[in-house]
Amino acid sequence: MSTLGLGSVEQIPVGEGRAFDVQGRQVAVFRLRDGRVRALSAVCPHRGGPIADGQIDGAVVLCPLHLNAFELDTGCSTTGQADLDSWAVTVDDGQLMIHPTPKERDR
Ligand code: FES
Repeated sequence: MSTLGLGSVEQIPVGEGRAFDVQGRQVAVFRLRDGRVRALSAVCPHRGGPIADGQIDGAVVLCPLHLNAFELDTGCSTTGQADLDSWAVTVDDGQLMIHPTPKERDR
């Protein structure tokens, strides 16, 4: 399936995340300080916290409600929660492009 455009990357302040609807899924897209973008499920598996509002560093996002951590690259929880789905997302000519199907997990 081809990628979907989500609009300009400038919608997301550097170092933050924003939630988007991707074919009925709420997806949190993060704009890292080094220019990378990453996309994870926007709903925390712990108690439904808003992942897009979490603090990020180069490696993980912290859910704002109870600070469980999830790897930005994989969605894997580093604090023992269920994992988040992740999506392939890129920036092409300033536009966010996302593959509409979550990545397969390697296990
Ligand atoms: S709801 Fe996300 S850590 Fe509790």
